[in-house]
Amino acid sequence: MRLRRKPWIDQAIHDFEDTALLDNFETYKGKWRSLFTNPDLPLYMELGTGKGQFIAGMAETHPEINFVGFEVQLGVLYYAAMKLHEQAAKNGKVALFDIANIEDVVAPGEVDRFYINFCDPWPKKKHAKRRLTYHTFLARYARLLAKGGEVHFKTDNEGLFLFSLDEFREAGWALKNVTYDLHSTDTPNIETEYEHKFSAKGQPIFRLAAVKPEEADSHE
Ligand SMILES: C[S@@+](CC[C@H](N)C(=O)[O-])C[C@H]1O[C@@H](n2cnc3c(N)ncnc32)[C@H](O)[C@@H]1O
Repeated sequence: MRLRRKPWIDQAIHDFEDTALLDNFETYKGKWRSLFTNPDLPLYMELGTGKGQFIAGMAETHPEINFVGFEVQLGVLYYAAMKLHEQAAKNGKVALFDIANIEDVVAPGEVDRFYINFCDPWPKKKHAKRRLTYHTFLARYARLLAKGGEVHFKTDNEGLFLFSLDEFREAGWALKNVTYDLHSTDTPNIETEYEHKFSAKGQPIFRLAAVKPEEADSHE
């Protein structure tokens, strides 16, 4: 999702200072929970939030969880910040940050769950290392997740999904709730923008959840 740059957003984003985090991310490392009204709640993070339909829907449905979404494009993050700003509960925030550097701003064991929704499939084999479910990424998520922490992943791309199942299995993650057609199940589900677009075209939605391996904790 590449949006044409809209200069007015540089100013307008400041209307949502309660939900849009724009800088000083290093100061949040190990302290993300303290940004919320109830810092004792579990912390779930979404990688590549887009316009925020998912995180806003999740935050509204789950007031017992605190949510942070990372998004690298301001022109997209703006809409996510607006959705969260309009909610009463204030248990969701978005951060303008490139997740390539996530260890700079998130401490080991700080996160209870990561969501990855409709990330770039990088279909060429030579680009496999860039897929967000490549095993080097899984090892990084494992370090940032608390004991028993999970990654939840949705995609419309079958090739990426099959690749991801293998990567998680080979890295020792326990898979659960694997489905090749999420919308044909009665699993509770909050749609993302991309999910809505793809399923409207009749494409099945693939989904998995994976629990981090216990060995990941014993190596720390
Ligand atoms: C294909 S869109 C999917 C958006 C949303 N998750 C959905 O399902 O509708 C991927 C999003 O991830 C963001 N993104 C890509 N690479 C990123 C990175 N390194 N750090 C943060 N966000 C990133 C893009 O800007 C884009 O908004």
